[in-house]
Amino acid sequence: MKYRKLGRTGFKVSEISFGAWAIGGSWGEQRDEDSMASLHRALDLGVNFFDTADVYGDGRSERLLARLKRERREPFHIATKAGRRLSPHVADGYNAKNLTAFIERSLRNLNTDCLDLVQLHCPPAEVYYRPEVFEVIDRLTRAGKVANYGVSVEKVEEALKAIEYPGVKTVQIIFNMFRLRPAELFFQEARRRRVGVIARVPLASGMLGGRLKRSSRFAADDHRNFNRHGEAFDRGETFSGVDYETGLRAVARLQRLVPRGATLSQMALRWVLMFDAVSCVIPGVRRPDQMDENARAAELKPLSRATMTAVARIYDRDIRPLVHQLW
Ligand SMILES: NC(=O)c1ccc[n+]([C@@H]2O[C@H](COP(=O)([O-])OP(=O)(O)OC[C@H]3O[C@@H](n4cnc5c(N)ncnc54)[C@H](OP(=O)(O)O)[C@@H]3O)[C@@H](O)[C@H]2O)c1
Repeated sequence: MKYRKLGRTGFKVSEISFGAWAIGGSWGEQRDEDSMASLHRALDLGVNFFDTADVYGDGRSERLLARLKRERREPFHIATKAGRRLSPHVADGYNAKNLTAFIERSLRNLNTDCLDLVQLHCPPAEVYYRPEVFEVIDRLTRAGKVANYGVSVEKVEEALKAIEYPGVKTVQIIFNMFRLRPAELFFQEARRRRVGVIARVPLASGMLGGRLKRSSRFAADDHRNFNRHGEAFDRGETFSGVDYETGLRAVARLQRLVPRGATLSQMALRWVLMFDAVSCVIPGVRRPDQMDENARAAELKPLSRATMTAVARIYDRDIRPLVHQLW
């Protein structure tokens, strides 16, 4: 495994880190035995950064990570998120009372006195125009409940606004072969301000894993079934907002570019790591064999210039006209 600085947090995080949404829920049936085996395998392979949220399985994902801490001795970092427990999910909910309660709950779930990193969980855009929200987390930081904070965003514009707040040390954003826009202006600004960039949904919800088919079916409680068009949360998350059939067609073209001995998912992860503004990539993992495959992406040679150009061409032709302006 290789490691990169996570902005100004002082953490050196594994290039391939762990996305812990699916082990919480919303991806069909997931057995805790498989989740724990995947988490242990991650540590065995040098992964030292895990991304979760208080709402993933209503705390199940956080509690599995607390169990991992009990079962292992080596140090690792856990990033959680706050805000999505609000219902309705509105800017006014991001106040001192609610944020404090959410953070206290995550401290209990994670069985710790201080959270390594808290991210505002894709708040409404208006939140970025309310300095008082960031002052609340500054206060929680001074009180020792939070070591570092950042944001998880939907849009590039939100990321650019968020990093104007000096306390924001990390931004989590969708970045993958179907979502190129963050590389245009945001990465440059993030580098300038030494903000850590956590690349989420790198496999476009598994689409860039290359094993999904036209005939694939998802369980009723898998967001790939119920949020395909953004019905339950933002449209940009599931399959990173790309229409399923369009995604399959682009994947067929990308398959031709996979380096010898690698898989499409490994190429997808290596592609993200080609951008040095990225601190780490957090593919969602449900089984140890996925962890093995994903971790090996860090060992792949850099992709050739020809491959990078070919990926951009596929994006320009198949994906850009449909989604580029949306996020
Ligand atoms: N709003 C937010 O802040 C937000 C939103 C979304 C995600 N996230 C974070 O980002 C992480 C990653 O995003 P994501 O989990 O939504 O999507 P993703 O990483 O693009 O896709 C993950 C899915 O791909 C499949 N997969 C994993 N490894 C694979 C491999 N080697 N080959 C083929 N398929 C593979 C698995 O599902 P199957 O095995 O079922 O196909 C897995 O659940 C999340 O876990 C979460 O921590 C944050």
